[in-house]
Amino acid sequence: MRKAVAKVEAVPPGEMLPVDIEGLPPIVIFNLDGELFATSNICTHAVARLSDGFFEEGVIECPLHSGCFDVRTGEAREFPCEIPLKTYNVEVDGDDILVEFDEA
Ligand code: FES
Repeated sequence: MRKAVAKVEAVPPGEMLPVDIEGLPPIVIFNLDGELFATSNICTHAVARLSDGFFEEGVIECPLHSGCFDVRTGEAREFPCEIPLKTYNVEVDGDDILVEFDEA
């Protein structure tokens, strides 16, 4: 299911935007040098919202135990995170950001 989740201007380069839509998993949109990526907003180590952490150079650092993930691939990059983060396909249509969610 593809869904419009935000406007492009809501996520400037270097920024991230948490998106919470009822009935869908919480995600974060990242703008890495003009390219948009989306991942789950929940750390795979324990329960923490990654959008409360730090986004720098394509990596999101979890606010709870400082584990890190690559926002492009979801790869766990820093201990204690070992399980990859779920990623979502992102497209831009006009000024809308569209994210592909799994069918419920
Ligand atoms: Fe994210 Fe522990 S909850 S690193």
